[in-house]
Amino acid sequence: PVASGPYADRFGGQLVLVTGAGSGIGRATAYAFAEAGARVVAVDRNAEGAARTAEMSRLIGAPDAWAETVDVSDEQAMEKLAEKVATEYGVVDVLVNNAGIGLSGSFFDTTAEDWRKVLDVNLWGVIHGCRLFGKQMAERGQGGHIVNTASAAAYQPSKALPAYSTSKAAVLMLSECLRAELAGQGIGVSAICPGFVHTNITSTARFAGVAAEEEKRRQKRAARLYRLRGYPPEKVADAVLRAVVRNQAVVPVTPEARGAHLMS
Ligand code: NAI
Repeated sequence: PVASGPYADRFGGQLVLVTGAGSGIGRATAYAFAEAGARVVAVDRNAEGAARTAEMSRLIGAPDAWAETVDVSDEQAMEKLAEKVATEYGVVDVLVNNAGIGLSGSFFDTTAEDWRKVLDVNLWGVIHGCRLFGKQMAERGQGGHIVNTASAAAYQPSKALPAYSTSKAAVLMLSECLRAELAGQGIGVSAICPGFVHTNITSTARFAGVAAEEEKRRQKRAARLYRLRGYPPEKVADAVLRAVVRNQAVVPVTPEARGAHLMS
């Protein structure tokens, strides 16, 4: 297979690890890097999803693509993954911390357990990825790039998404702090902030309480709108590759995410 697409030369032979690569935006991102000739590690807690992404990535053109079944919120499992990747595949050139879960519900409908689950995956998953793979990049001394998937929810308050929005605001700030820390070592850090994109997360998110019912209606409206206008995960994947090539800091994706970012 031959690398293709606008970024073929940029990613040929590079090692790219994408978490949450078993579906949606993560899968589309893995495919986009595969098309650009990268070697791809597809990580997901859903083994079947990760395996399918790796298989398709090879068909698309990745010279090598592997699947790893890991829960990003599990620190020990992530440590093992980082060791295995370094030993078997090499130091990661581009890390995409994309795995995430959704949760809708007003503040008082959100239990402590709900908060823990959302923060464990959406925030701690990103922290583990940045610490472990960022350290390997820094020690190697040849630069690299980390992309964290935040959300427009990171800068757009909503009474129906307190836990999710808080987790994403933390990811956004973490990305900016790390960007400052790693700039001197040639390692870029980007935060991708999509608005509404058609994936499993938007069709299977948990809804609890009255505020969440409003959120459900809002998402249905957005879904109708985007079915007409079409905002597929592939366009978010394009934004991820562009963010790496241009070393962009904060990247609002989708028209309403860009609008809300200007207002914030
Ligand atoms: P998705 O549900 O299709 O994909 C998420 C993937 O992450 C799934 O394959 C899932 O198995 C995996 N995952 C979940 N928890 C995990 C864990 N603990 N360890 C490993 N893998 C795990 O949803 P989508 O939309 O592709 O989400 C990707 C990222 O984009 C998430 O961080 C989400 O918050 C973010 N996002 C999505 C938006 C949307 O409208 N779809 C908008 C803004 C941000």
